[in-house]
Parts: sequence; C-alpha cells; structure tokens
Amino acid sequence: MSQYPPPSSPGDAHPASAAAGAGAAAGSRLDRWVGTYAQRTSSMTASEIRALFAVANRPEVVSLAGGMPYLPALPLDAIADLTARLVAEKGAKALQYGSGQGEEVLREQIVEVMRPQGITAHPDDVVVTTGSQQALDLVSRIFLDPGDVVLAEAPSYVGALGVFKSYQAQVEHVPLDHDGLQPAALEETLVRLRAAGKRVKFLYCVPNHHNPAGVTLSLERRREVVAIAQRHDLLVLEDDPYALLGFDGDPLPAMRSLDADHVIHLGSFSKTFAPGYRVGWAVAPHAVRDKLVLASESAILCPTSFGQFAIAEYLSTYDWKGQVKVFRELYRERRDAMLAALAAHLPQTTWTHPGGGFYVWVTLPDGLDAKAMLPRAVTGRVAYVPGGAFYADGTGGQSLRLSYCFPTAERITEGVRRLAGVVRDELDVVQLFGSPANSRAGRPGVDNPGPELA
Ligand SMILES: Cc1ncc(COP(=O)(O)O)c(C=O)c1O
Repeated sequence: MSQYPPPSSPGDAHPASAAAGAGAAAGSRLDRWVGTYAQRTSSMTASEIRALFAVANRPEVVSLAGGMPYLPALPLDAIADLTARLVAEKGAKALQYGSGQGEEVLREQIVEVMRPQGITAHPDDVVVTTGSQQALDLVSRIFLDPGDVVLAEAPSYVGALGVFKSYQAQVEHVPLDHDGLQPAALEETLVRLRAAGKRVKFLYCVPNHHNPAGVTLSLERRREVVAIAQRHDLLVLEDDPYALLGFDGDPLPAMRSLDADHVIHLGSFSKTFAPGYRVGWAVAPHAVRDKLVLASESAILCPTSFGQFAIAEYLSTYDWKGQVKVFRELYRERRDAMLAALAAHLPQTTWTHPGGGFYVWVTLPDGLDAKAMLPRAVTGRVAYVPGGAFYADGTGGQSLRLSYCFPTAERITEGVRRLAGVVRDELDVVQLFGSPANSRAGRPGVDNPGPELA
C-alpha cells in the first residue's frame, strides 16, 4: 500500500525524525532550494573536520585546537555590576538603535586604545563593527569583485580566507618566516600577478602574534611592506586583534602609523576583553570609511548599542590595562608550558616561538599529514587544527596549529605528551606502509572549521 504523503517528500518531516524526540530539527534533510542558491554559496563549505571537533570538546580530550580567550580570568563580578548600572541608568539609550558608524563615546576610547601602537586617529576615522570579522567582510564587500586577487600570508587566518572566498576572490599566498611576511616575495608576487593582468586589490596581513603562525612582523619589514604599498599603490588590510597581548614589552608601531593612506587597520575587543560583545573596529582613509559605514548600515543598520556602551563603561570605570596585563601573564605562562613540552616530547618536529597571542605553528616530520593524523589524535585524546585549513591552495598539510590560550599549563603539557605519542605511532605507520594519500586531494581551498576554532 502506498503511503501518503511519501515519507521522503521534500519539506515534510519524516515521522521517524519527529519520533527522534525533542531536539531533532523539524523538516526533511533534503534541500529543496539546492538549485536556487547564489553562485557565491558554492564556496561556503563546512569543514569535514567539524564532526571530529564535536568529539574533541569532550572533557577527556585536551583541546589545543580552539582559539577561545580564557574568560574565567575576567572580573565577572565587576562586569555584572557595570552591566546592571548600565541598564538602570542608561538603559533607554543603550538598548536603542544607534549610529551606523558606532557610538562616539566608544570611538573616542578606541583612539586611545590604539595609541600605544603609534596610531594617531580621530574618532571620525573609526568605524565600529560586529567584531573584526565583520570588518573583514565589509572591506571585502566594498573592494572585491569575483576573480579579484587578495594577497595573504601563507598561512593565513582561516576566518579571513573564508570571507575572501565567499566574495569569490582568488587568494595568492606570500610566504612568511620567523619575522613575518617576506617583503621581497610580496613585491615579486604583486608585480608578477599585475603583469599577468590580475586585479590585485589588497594585501591581507596579521602583523602581531599571527594566527596561526605565532610570528610577528619585524619593524624593518613593516617599513618595507608600507614602501611596497606606496610604490605599487597597494592597499594593506592590517588585521591586528593581538597587538596588546605581547609578552615582551610595548607593541611595535602599526603599519597604519607609518602610512594612513594605504592602510586599513582592524582592531578588536575580543582578545583583550570578551568576544561575546562582538565589538571590533576599522580605521580607514576617509573615502573608504564612508563606504564601510554605508556597507555596514545595509548589512546590520548599526553595531550593537548595548555592547558598545558596556565596553565604554568598562574602559572608563575599570582598570582594563591591568586586566590585559593579567591576560598577558596567564598566556605567557601557558606559552612557556607549551614550548617546554614541545622541546621535551616532540623533538622530531619544528615550531615557532610566539612572543604573544595564542598560537604555535608546528611542522611535522616529512611524510606526515596533519589532517590524516587527526582522527588518531582525537582517539588519543588530544586535538589540534590541521594546517591545511589556513591555506587557500590546498597546501599546508605537514603543519598544524596548537593554541595555548584556554587549557591550563598542566593540560597543555599532557596534551603535547599525548600528541607526541600520536606522532610516533603515525611515523611507525608511515615507515611500514608509506605516506597516507593526500587527504585534501580534490578538495583544495578553505573549509570553515567553526567559530570556536577560528
Ligand atoms: C587574526 C584574526 N582576525 C580576526 C578575528 C576575528 O575576531 P573578532 O571578530 O572576534 O574580533 C580573529 C579571531 O580569532 C583573528 O584571529
């Protein structure tokens, strides 16, 4: 007897899925709109490793994968007090729609936050955004047409690569080393691509405590990059959320402080305060700033009023610089634990020596592939992000990113010890059976591993 409606008809919940009980999403898993999506969505892919990370979040697994700041170190009572005060005293304003460019009181404070990096901006130059992630989206939205080229370090922040890809841009990587992006390679790549008729729109660069490489662009190289930008009329997108999290003294001058015409500078409160507010900013040349504000208004009308007023209150009533120092000390101790554990347990690998921020970049012995090794690692109760996620061209398989921001020093040491066992086993397998087939073959490019891993 035929059933009506057929259980697999698009859009209808299968009785079995309804029976799956509370928590099961209603509706068929078939996508009736599959032929309807805009072309640009074809490049929006969830990483195949997401499922593994669901397991990696279990308490028995030491996750060295996520890039989440250690928020238990925040003064939560003081934040609760200031939040209650904000609602009671300024609620009608703080809960209202606000300005598309962001609240002036916060833009004035952002100018002060950037001062240690030598940036002398006016509050009018600042556009407040929904985290620096939205600033990446806005800059891409106003500059990138399909096929345009973005130059980016190899490796690069996976969240930025995802944005560039969603605007159908082509990412061309420029190598970096322990002093950051290599200026000579930048100039060579730029000249070559332009000679080939490519529209190179901007250089994307994370100058301080790089995500994922853990390196910092030296002052000399900052000057060289800016000189190249001037010589070739190249826009530089300086993405700088980790500037104040250096372990050894004051931050270096931002590239924005060296040239205000060629550099868009992005900042964020996510790493120095809390990502849950979703407040970041862009400082841009005036004409660019105007376009960013219009693009932001069309996307979100205005950034979070409540988050902006809460951060403004925090900056003006709490010792926020002291709190950044607390974070720095905490992350320094964890960085030290990770470097000591790598030296003790993983001498077959090489790694970077971050002077701040959250990340260490590890290169595995020849023949090993970090993505192919991940299931074995998760079974061995340790997780990391495979290096291929940070390249748009399918390379990077021999590297991986370890983060030390969230686990305690003891957990970091234990995690690296477990990772060393996994690497040893994997080397044995490779010696016996040869290298695993390149697990990324046929699927080059960036997949989105999820916000907590960014
Ligand atoms: C280099 C870099 N840029 C931008 C972001 C996005 O940060 P947010 O949107 O929270 O400001 C991150 C987050 O990890 C990052 O590491």
